[in-house]
Amino acid sequence: MKRVIVISTSLRNGSNSDMLADQFVEGAKAAGNDVEKISLAGKNIQFCKGCLACQKLGRCVIDDDVSDIMTRVLQADVICWATPIYYYEMSGQMKTLLDRMNPLYTSDYKFRKVYMLSTAAEDEEYTPEKAVKGLQGWVDCFEKAELAGSLFCGGISDPGEASAKETELEEAYEFGRSL
Ligand SMILES: Cc1cc2nc3c(=O)[nH]c(=O)nc-3n(C[C@H](O)[C@H](O)[C@H](O)COP(=O)(O)O)c2cc1C
Repeated sequence: MKRVIVISTSLRNGSNSDMLADQFVEGAKAAGNDVEKISLAGKNIQFCKGCLACQKLGRCVIDDDVSDIMTRVLQADVICWATPIYYYEMSGQMKTLLDRMNPLYTSDYKFRKVYMLSTAAEDEEYTPEKAVKGLQGWVDCFEKAELAGSLFCGGISDPGEASAKETELEEAYEFGRSL
């Protein structure tokens, strides 16, 4: 049994990427894993100030919802990120959280596999590429971890449209089940 954390970064109701995240959760649960999903909606997440105090203190000096999220990430074996594509990149809130989790860099982190689920209006092969590379850059800083898979679901713009994307929803489920 693995501890799995799924971080859903879209802030809108009826989020398409959140639907993929839910499928990943269901698949991971069906395989007997201990799964927790966190949505960034409603969370207080401030920008990294770049002070690097975390390198001395082992924690961030900003007091907001990130410390609780980071505690959970620290205990997880698997992290799955779900994000809408914004300007061919990951969402700003996802990038902000990645930056804020800088204290993990010097920690005894457990995660070994990282996954990414993304959605966008366009359905081109290149649409998610920069977002995937961005996450790859973060994963590269954690030598014991790898970007184990990414799934893109394009051609969806309005909230809830992902519900018609049976193939991708099934793929997200299988990603979770295969952990
Ligand atoms: C600020 C912003 C930027 C976006 N940029 C892109 C983009 O570069 N390419 C694209 O195909 N869709 C873009 N979209 C559309 C979203 O990726 C799309 O609606 C997606 O399904 C949203 O996922 P969500 O429902 O999980 O938030 C953008 C949407 C917003 C709000």
